[in-house]
Amino acid sequence: MDEPVEFTDIYVDEAMVDRATEVLRSGRYVKGPMVERFETAFAEFCGTDYAVGVASGTDAIYLSLKAAGVEAGDDVFVPAHTFFATVSPVLELGANPVFVDHDPVIYTMDALDLGERVRAADDPAAVVPVHIYGHPADMGAIREVADAHDLAVIEDACQAHGATFEGDRAGSLGDAGAFSFYPSKNMTVAGDGGMLTTDDPDLAREARLLRNHGRNEDGEHVRLGLNHRLGELHAALGLEQLDHIDDWNEKRRAAAARYTDRLGHVDAVTTPQSRSEAEHVYHLYVIQVPDRADLRDSLDAASVQTGIHYPDPAHEHPAVERRLDEPPNVPRTETLTDRILSLPMHPRITETEIDRVCAAIERHYDR
Ligand SMILES: Cc1ncc(COP(=O)(O)O)c(C=O)c1O
Repeated sequence: MDEPVEFTDIYVDEAMVDRATEVLRSGRYVKGPMVERFETAFAEFCGTDYAVGVASGTDAIYLSLKAAGVEAGDDVFVPAHTFFATVSPVLELGANPVFVDHDPVIYTMDALDLGERVRAADDPAAVVPVHIYGHPADMGAIREVADAHDLAVIEDACQAHGATFEGDRAGSLGDAGAFSFYPSKNMTVAGDGGMLTTDDPDLAREARLLRNHGRNEDGEHVRLGLNHRLGELHAALGLEQLDHIDDWNEKRRAAAARYTDRLGHVDAVTTPQSRSEAEHVYHLYVIQVPDRADLRDSLDAASVQTGIHYPDPAHEHPAVERRLDEPPNVPRTETLTDRILSLPMHPRITETEIDRVCAAIERHYDR
């Protein structure tokens, strides 16, 4: 039996261990210097004026929407093809998620469909484009719709650390950006963590209040807020990972190029595409096939791990579905969810491993 080709992997080096030890020994575990240093470094990385460390990507989306003024009853436009956490913060705020179909080739939000749904909406307030799989959404066209209708643009950049659109980094392309450092992401904090990025000083100030019980510098609770803080240990590990992210993204792109080169001629396989103005960071390498379950079995038999991101459209999850008056009309999303398959992807995947995955796919379709 071959060694498994792992879907993803975990990176730990001595510098991370040293940083973690330093924080452990300092006794300062929250509201300390590491979070501030990580925020400064992450804002610089994204090219934004501010970054606010929070406890998760979900919190970053929630606080961005709240700090941007989204309220109960507002319409918030979200892609139907995304992870549940793009939508749950909208519902937590009592706002209405309005589901938008995706571009058929790139899988990010379709700006034309967005425009139509915004024009038909009663209380359009915000849009949450998702840079799904690490490919930036069509931000030029989305911004045009948003500007015409005065929508706040909250980027869900949870899968897109370092991705660019027309040369600008994810997180700097809207009114605010939300990042996740969940362990499988392109960079992590070795646990849960998130970051909110923005150029807007008022939004940054509001988010800082809201992440810490709505409490101001004088100790007064001036807003209703919960605890959404990032811990010092996580921030210290994030700082270390940030040193590597550009190199890791480059390695992911090289791995993706090799997959595409090998799989491009397999008729049954549709390989992922990229817009010319965008730089993909391949959080996931997702192909489309007509017989996903069979191919998955063949890959499993060849010890190749795969994933499905995501098996169901966001609006079909019971917690969302029961809150909708009627199911959204998003035919492309319905078809896509049956066809997608994520192949092993991480910065340390070897050419030999990629070739093994591709050979197993070729064998499957040569039968
Ligand atoms: C697209 C997307 N949005 C939001 C999230 C939520 O991030 P977190 O798990 O850090 O709360 C994730 C990651 O899990 C994600 O992939």
